Amino acid sequence: MENQKMKALVLEEFGQPLVLKEIDIPQPNQGEVLVRVESTPINPSDASFMKGSYSSSRKAPCVPGFEGSGVVVKSGGGEVADSLLNKRVAFTAGGQNGTFAQYATANANFVLPIEDDVTFNQAASSFVNPLTVIAMLETVQQANAKAVVQSAAASALGRMMVRYFKQHGIEVINIVRRPEQIQILKNEGANIVLNSNQEDFLPTLKAHAIELNATVFFDAVAGPLTGQVLSSMPNGSTAYVYGALSLQEASISPTQLIFRDQSIKGLWLTKWLTTISKEQLKTAILKLQKLIKTELRTEIAQECSLQEGSQAVRQYIKNMSSGKILFKPQLQ
Ligand SMILES: NC(=O)c1ccc[n+]([C@@H]2O[C@H](COP(=O)([O-])OP(=O)(O)OC[C@H]3O[C@@H](n4cnc5c(N)ncnc54)[C@H](OP(=O)(O)O)[C@@H]3O)[C@@H](O)[C@H]2O)c1
Repeated sequence: MENQKMKALVLEEFGQPLVLKEIDIPQPNQGEVLVRVESTPINPSDASFMKGSYSSSRKAPCVPGFEGSGVVVKSGGGEVADSLLNKRVAFTAGGQNGTFAQYATANANFVLPIEDDVTFNQAASSFVNPLTVIAMLETVQQANAKAVVQSAAASALGRMMVRYFKQHGIEVINIVRRPEQIQILKNEGANIVLNSNQEDFLPTLKAHAIELNATVFFDAVAGPLTGQVLSSMPNGSTAYVYGALSLQEASISPTQLIFRDQSIKGLWLTKWLTTISKEQLKTAILKLQKLIKTELRTEIAQECSLQEGSQAVRQYIKNMSSGKILFKPQLQ
């Protein structure tokens, strides 16, 4: 496959639309594999990366996309990489060129062979959100909390949290921003879903948070919501900001910090991955084989070809709660 070309969506400059181009098929280095990409989702991290507001070593021009699924067609050498040859896999691509292309390279340690009954579409979102929810459960267990609050709860990750935390006996107080999102979460088995645009939102949240002693807040929105929600939670509570969907700074009053012992921290999967051992990573990734079919599954809204490029990204941003939009790079 050396010197052969492939179709890819290229981000020439941050903030500019994606351009469909023919570029060289990347070659795997030692410990890497080359994957023929079958499905790859558009995530909030991609939208943020394309705007130039995401922390990544990837520089423009480049191919965006952080995760996907496909078939391993070449090994760059090494025991793990060789063992993956010809396997159907889910993978994450952290190098200079990502998954919005017909082929992508991946570190073999971040490649998960998928079971025969898992489709490429189901497997495409196996890493970013599922591993973050696993990291979140670990955070909750370390804090010895029995209940948490989450914002943007109708997101793919929010729905995973509802299912996975229920399985582990953790109560979730869910915050959404539209009335129709309440039923989406009830259908997932959520007990408490609050609309932040309702007048009685904060007093109702406070009653639940105090009753359940919910001391951890997973916040994907930031802005004024971070401090408002935290102020309705018990003294000593911590907000873990893991997304910035409002595109605003997270705010908290000094009173909360000084007199109520409340705090704000960040939570980032990339950082969490550096805190666990190779063995722990292997165990977590193997766990995903079953979990992506059950608690950590992802709803899919639509498939798009690479030709639909930036139009697909715009459509996703307009309608994020409907499920993931997937690029199907092999579609002509
Ligand atoms: N830190 C990490 O390591 C990490 C890892 C994975 C994911 N994340 C973050 O997790 C979040 C969810 O990701 P996802 O893939 O699950 O997203 P998703 O499925 O695309 O859903 C995004 C959700 O956010 C809601 N939303 C968008 N803008 C909002 C705003 N200004 N205020 C309140 N809600 C808003 C959307 O609701 P509407 O339909 O109402 O717009 C939708 O329900 C993102 O912020 C992502 O960056 C972080």
